[in-house]
Amino acid sequence: MPSDWTADEIRRIGYRVVDLIADHLTTLPDAPVFRPVPQELAQAFLSSPPPQEPVSPDQILDAFQQTIEPYPFGNGHPRFWGWVNSPPAVMGVFADALAAAMNPSCAGGNHAAIHLERQVAGWFRDMLGFPAGSMGLLVSGGSMATMTALAVARHVKSDIDVRLNGLRDAPAPFAFYMSTEGHSCARKAIELLGFGSASVRTIATDADYRMRIDALEAAVAADLDRGVRPIAVIATGGSTNTGAIDDLSAIGGVCRRYDVWMHVDAAYGGPAILSTQYAGELRAVAQADSVALDPHKWLFVPVEAGLVVVRDAEAMRSAFSLVPPYIRQSGSAGDVYGLPWFSEYGFQQTRGFRALKVWMTLQQFGLTGYREAIEENLALAGYLADRVRAAPDLELTAPPSLSVVCFRFIGDQGRSSGRSGSSAALQARDEETIAALNRALLEKLQLGGEAFLTSTELRGRFTLRACIVNYRSRREDVDRMLAAVREIEKGILTNP
Ligand SMILES: Cc1ncc(COP(=O)(O)O)c(C=O)c1O
Repeated sequence: MPSDWTADEIRRIGYRVVDLIADHLTTLPDAPVFRPVPQELAQAFLSSPPPQEPVSPDQILDAFQQTIEPYPFGNGHPRFWGWVNSPPAVMGVFADALAAAMNPSCAGGNHAAIHLERQVAGWFRDMLGFPAGSMGLLVSGGSMATMTALAVARHVKSDIDVRLNGLRDAPAPFAFYMSTEGHSCARKAIELLGFGSASVRTIATDADYRMRIDALEAAVAADLDRGVRPIAVIATGGSTNTGAIDDLSAIGGVCRRYDVWMHVDAAYGGPAILSTQYAGELRAVAQADSVALDPHKWLFVPVEAGLVVVRDAEAMRSAFSLVPPYIRQSGSAGDVYGLPWFSEYGFQQTRGFRALKVWMTLQQFGLTGYREAIEENLALAGYLADRVRAAPDLELTAPPSLSVVCFRFIGDQGRSSGRSGSSAALQARDEETIAALNRALLEKLQLGGEAFLTSTELRGRFTLRACIVNYRSRREDVDRMLAAVREIEKGILTNP
């Protein structure tokens, strides 16, 4: 039977899997960061029918080796600095296999996985300075963490029984506040929670891309004057675009003054609380009602692993708890059903054993190891920013913060001659020309396989963006990326 294997069969295939993992992780640095899936292969994926008969494990692994493993997303490589994606910690990789071997549902119960999740959530709670009575829950990522937190905010701050009646009995409209730099997942969550994106007030940012506190306060006050009920401010503890950290303490003050829920999106930046450089700024996250922090970003836990912590555990339970009779026998022994189930604190019922990879990865690094890795990434971002500053043909497009560096190519005469310089291909040097040039450059860089950056828009301007959440990256990787950028520039300038 293909479904039940002897220990010897498991070992033989398992050892081959371990070899594949070892080869993949150790040969990645010498492979292209990224190569697109060839069209014929993409087509073959789409057109292949499901297998009618069992396929042998060796054949399955052969197919993995030939058609899947050669085309990774790119993270894992020392010169991948796209979006916010890190390489996986090896213990996290193994943990995923071990978790699948145990295959529990972490809805609840009195089994080890549940206690482990309580333990890791407690570790994060302490790291973030949240009180012992708060509740942490592992979720798929920052989006689900935000959705969960804002669902609790809705429950607590809407002043209506939203679980019974939804929003239709609301006596007044509601409002949410996030800066222009807030992550799109908050807007999605607000839409899914039934408020509509019209309830989002987009607050302007200052020169450092931090939410303007005066603008926030004015928006909240104006809403209250008009009879609108403010629900939550979504502050950012490390923006995706530039790494900007909002003034969390000042936002906390506004939220307390106007009785508004304070959520901090620290999905990316949260772990920098371990660094000497950012501990002070991020400490004020402890003032929040809820926070999102993604272990699958700067803590190198394999995807997916997000975390939400809510200060008021009872409010969280009251927002989600719905226990049908088949889940729990009334009066049943605590030894079987254990603590209140995680499924009472979030949307998911059957839940994976995410805690194991978080727990194992946290131990692989230890807080000291994380501090070192994060501080090294910060230093590397500083090095990249310095090299950009020193290059006449490049310019920083935002003040660097955390491990994000936004920059763009502005031509070979660059700043020294101003934007109106007279070099052949870049004479016009208007925004559109520069944007088009950087777009072309980025595509060639990504397809070239030497390094991988992504892009964003800052105040409507296209920019290249490197986000270094990568324990494998070194200075020579930054040098190689810049050298590749220069090569591509030369090609573009000579063959525009
Ligand atoms: C600051 C921030 N918040 C939220 C998210 C969404 O997280 P996820 O993609 O894990 O759902 C991201 C993703 O990059 C992010 O950078």
